[in-house]
Amino acid sequence: MGLKSNRNFSISKGPMSFDQFLKEIAPLLGLQWRPFQRRGIKRKVERRIYELGFSCFDEYHLKVRQDPDEKGSLSKILTVTLSRFFRDQEVFDTLGHSIFPPILQNKAEGELNIWSVGCASGEEPYSLSLLWNQQFKKDYPEVRLFVLATDIDEKMLRRAKEGRYKKSSLREMPMKILQEYFNEEDGLFVLHPSIKGSVEFKRHDILTEEPFLGMDLIFCRNLVFTYFSKESQIKVLAKLFRSLKETGYLVIGKDEALPLVYPTLFIPLFSDQKIYQKFTPSPQ
Ligand SMILES: C[S@@+](CC[C@H](N)C(=O)[O-])C[C@H]1O[C@@H](n2cnc3c(N)ncnc32)[C@H](O)[C@@H]1O
Repeated sequence: MGLKSNRNFSISKGPMSFDQFLKEIAPLLGLQWRPFQRRGIKRKVERRIYELGFSCFDEYHLKVRQDPDEKGSLSKILTVTLSRFFRDQEVFDTLGHSIFPPILQNKAEGELNIWSVGCASGEEPYSLSLLWNQQFKKDYPEVRLFVLATDIDEKMLRRAKEGRYKKSSLREMPMKILQEYFNEEDGLFVLHPSIKGSVEFKRHDILTEEPFLGMDLIFCRNLVFTYFSKESQIKVLAKLFRSLKETGYLVIGKDEALPLVYPTLFIPLFSDQKIYQKFTPSPQ
């Protein structure tokens, strides 16, 4: 019988509280513990403890320390996977009028490489492909868009490849795009195959794995600079720097900030939209 999500998985009161558990375990996962203090997350962790047959946070703490797979499972519980199409629409507007044009000016042909890190169920990379199709594809027939979308969670990637969405994830979508690229089926909105085929999905852990290289633009929103510890943020920032071409662009979440590093790796271009450009000092 399936477990109901609203069930109360009460576990016994061991010596370790939920807060202590998170404080000790988060750094082991490369995360910071502060944002997780929400009732929903506690319930999900308790449910996991119950499913594994443990009875308190202390026992689970030991399990996570000893089992790398369980570290992955707990990381998934602690990071939110919600996304939506054209999230923070002004960012996509700015991209359309101020970022794509200068990239394309220097690129009469070849590939425009974009990487969406922590892509959830595909809303972000598909939005980038939709923007390209709507505004640029016709004028740049010799340029091929390559959108790479990565996530640590296989389940999210499977959903992304299916390309079927609830109305709630489409609320920032311009109506024209919705009508042109989606069909409604059984209350879900199904993305057109031509857009589905334009994004390559891969499982990838941005914290522990090497970056993909040669990117013109990286979207890394609502993951690294929200959930990761400062140390992990700095580590990932260096990877993103390496991944980008010399004048490449980095977009982070609207409520996020880059950690301070010296020497500077990125300069802000559109501070409100959190759009940065890779900083390459000119030779003396
Ligand atoms: C809140 S969603 C962000 C989705 C999208 N970027 C946005 O801003 O709408 C965070 C995503 O990061 C993924 N994630 C968590 N840890 C990760 C890691 N170490 N490497 C890659 N993806 C990760 C989660 O599975 C989740 O799908």
